[in-house]
Amino acid sequence: TPLLETKVFGKNIIHYDSIHSTNSQAKLLCDEGLQEGSVILSEEQTSGRGRLGRNWSSPKGSSISMSVVLKPEINPVHVAKVTQISAAALSLAFEEMDIQCNIKWPNDIIINNKKVCGILTEMSSELNKINYVVMGIGINVNIDEEAFPDEIKSIATSLKIEYGKQISRKQIIASFLKYFENLYFEFINTGSAESSFEICRKRSLLLGKNIYVIRGSERTPATAVSIDENGELIVKYEDGTLSNLVSGEVSVRKS
Ligand code: BTN
Repeated sequence: TPLLETKVFGKNIIHYDSIHSTNSQAKLLCDEGLQEGSVILSEEQTSGRGRLGRNWSSPKGSSISMSVVLKPEINPVHVAKVTQISAAALSLAFEEMDIQCNIKWPNDIIINNKKVCGILTEMSSELNKINYVVMGIGINVNIDEEAFPDEIKSIATSLKIEYGKQISRKQIIASFLKYFENLYFEFINTGSAESSFEICRKRSLLLGKNIYVIRGSERTPATAVSIDENGELIVKYEDGTLSNLVSGEVSVRKS
């Protein structure tokens, strides 16, 4: 498409009308040798997946379900950084459209305290070698409020609800791929994702806030102190101990 300003990402786009999950489909195609930068899109997912085994719903035509294939030659322990690079790129793409958002570490995009976008990064690796990474992004674009199930109305939103107008999905995808390609190759070439982390800090929903660190059914109160040079969230528990979180679940405390 003429919108695309990238060198590698999105040069190969596979677009479905309906698919179980773009991430699952990307993984199948990777096993058959799909190249880096390929993008899988679908108008609809019939079993879209979220983090922690949750479902992800992607209504036909009004959401973006996208998976990007990556083949980074990095140690698998660094893969969480790619998710934050992606969150940073999404926030830049939204900003380019005059949409202000926050990033909820490690990988949710939030507008007015509601989730508008989630990222699910999956990897296939052996020993210390990555075969491929599939980075899946779900964005609520033109979904109307009444289309959200009651149980998520208070926590989810769409770009259209927040901005009162239809937004071009193509433009979001092209803009995201442009920023993501730059930030991703900067990381691959320099080994540092610092410029992405800086964006994540600047737009962070959590830094300085009282939060809960969630592990299974356990919620431990803490304060979000900083995002360090590895993209890890430093939290301070009530007894004063500091701890690094690599990924995982945190929530903002209302009190
Ligand atoms: C989350 O917030 O829990 C992550 C949601 C990720 C959803 C996207 S939609 C495209 C890709 N395919 C999937 O099945 N999931 C991801």
